[in-house]
Amino acid sequence: SKERTFIAVKPDGVQRGLVSDIIGRFEKRGYKLVGLKLLVPSKALANEHYADLSSKPFFKGLVDYMTNGKAPVVGMVWEGPSVIKQGRVMLGATDPKAAGPGTIRGDYCLSIGRNICHGSDSAESAEKEIGLWFGGKGEVVDWTSN
Ligand code: CMP
Repeated sequence: SKERTFIAVKPDGVQRGLVSDIIGRFEKRGYKLVGLKLLVPSKALANEHYADLSSKPFFKGLVDYMTNGKAPVVGMVWEGPSVIKQGRVMLGATDPKAAGPGTIRGDYCLSIGRNICHGSDSAESAEKEIGLWFGGKGEVVDWTSN
């Protein structure tokens, strides 16, 4: 399946050394890594990424946290069957207090404002977010192994 999703390790996840764990869970599940970068996102990128939340009281703090550069973000594109939905299952509930054990958030965090990771919530979001974070030519790689 060519289904793809955007998954990010947010600055708190990078700072806490959780990048390899999160990548490892997706690899071991059998999903294919087709895009990977480490960056401090611009305000413009973060504003656009979270545009749907622009009216929320936590929006400014969220964008500041993502962009302040105290730690970078690891952005990824993962490909495979039902990866949009299953990626969200693997991350766990947005509010870690509701995330089950065995999920990334359920295993590693408790605060909704520091929930370690992000995953696209729909096919439309995945397409938008992959385009935003991996817009450059060749940044998403089609590859197959035998
Ligand atoms: P994420 O999956 O990146 O999608 C939107 C983000 O907004 C979410 O994870 C949280 O980090 C953040 N968020 C959502 N609700 C709140 C809240 N009540 N307070 C602070 N941050 C929030």
